Amino acid sequence: MKAKYTLALLLICLASPLAAQKFEGLAATPPMGWNSWNTFQGNISESLIKEMADAIVSSGMQKAGYRFIVIDDGWEAPERDAQGNLVPDPTRFPHGMKAIGDYLHSRGFLFGIHNCAGTKTCAGLPGGRGHEFQDARAYASWGVDYLKYDWCNHGTANAEETYKTMRDALHAAGRPIVFSLCEWGDNKPWTWARDVGHLWRTTGDIMDCYDCQGAYSLGWKFILELQVGLEQYAGPGHWNDPDMLEVGNPGLNEAESRAHFSLWAMLAAPLMAGNDARKMPEQVRDILNNPEVIAIDQDALGKQGSRFMKHPGKQIWSKELSGGDWAVCFFNDSDEAVQLRIDWAHLSFLKGAYRVRDVWQKKDLGRNEGEFRAPLPSHDVVLLRLTPVK
Ligand code: GLA
Repeated sequence: MKAKYTLALLLICLASPLAAQKFEGLAATPPMGWNSWNTFQGNISESLIKEMADAIVSSGMQKAGYRFIVIDDGWEAPERDAQGNLVPDPTRFPHGMKAIGDYLHSRGFLFGIHNCAGTKTCAGLPGGRGHEFQDARAYASWGVDYLKYDWCNHGTANAEETYKTMRDALHAAGRPIVFSLCEWGDNKPWTWARDVGHLWRTTGDIMDCYDCQGAYSLGWKFILELQVGLEQYAGPGHWNDPDMLEVGNPGLNEAESRAHFSLWAMLAAPLMAGNDARKMPEQVRDILNNPEVIAIDQDALGKQGSRFMKHPGKQIWSKELSGGDWAVCFFNDSDEAVQLRIDWAHLSFLKGAYRVRDVWQKKDLGRNEGEFRAPLPSHDVVLLRLTPVK
């Protein structure tokens, strides 16, 4: 009897929630870094990743906060080995994944990798299904710090259960790893993933354009639209992910890159650059490295901004910041330039007097009195930071 009782107690202990946790404290603010997918898709290699890491250091991006270098789909060989282990592509990553991880760490980065919760990745390479604990041990042994876990070829699998299995596998492997869920918002992860991962994609893939659409992908204007209402689900340690940045890629003009970056900062989105950092024009570098915009994204309060108003040609977004500050973003989503004229009193979330700063012009504009006027070109933004007058 006593033995039975002890056994039951042991089973309860083993199944206790302590065994099923995500690593806490890894994403107090939205993760920032660079990911290979948007520019290179499967055309990646050890030398490309090293060159990119070097460019991210020399361009000042690393100093600006871009810490994770994430190797997306395409790093694997087509088959697992006889023991079921994942194998890096021998031509593209001839020294293996630990070696590239060591290089990234030696340059002061954290090391991210991609795989898929299904049987195969979207590129048809081995997926993690049924190998979760074995793979998590491999990632830990390679020094991985961030896992982006995709959702292609999942068959009839249940998303919540599948991602929880991988969370538990990472936890069991013992190395703190940021867990990035990438099931495209299909199963409303914002309603269940808070204790599963640190960020979750909310939509299909972003495309390098303002407002084009593909079968499973969207320009950033449409992705922005799909974030409305999700703000209540984000906070320190658990973020909505409206997908990686297209800033600086050929499908966006300068205004569209600036507006995309500003609005992703308003959303407290993970800032994963997706451009070729080796060939970055000055204007692109100035967008990605703007410290005042990054500070809005990375604000310690961890509140995702929301849309306050939408009129034809004019959207107003607000984001509460620590210390009583606010970020306010005016976005012209139309194809015509407009002249902004806003009565400060209409911005009802503001309480009292503030000092107003334009974070792109890098100019102090005085107080929030009377009317705010500014030219607002097509697809561009005016981004302000307001600080209470003490
Ligand atoms: C999916 C993801 C993308 C990228 C590709 C790789 O489409 O949503 O971000 O990781 O897979 O195949």
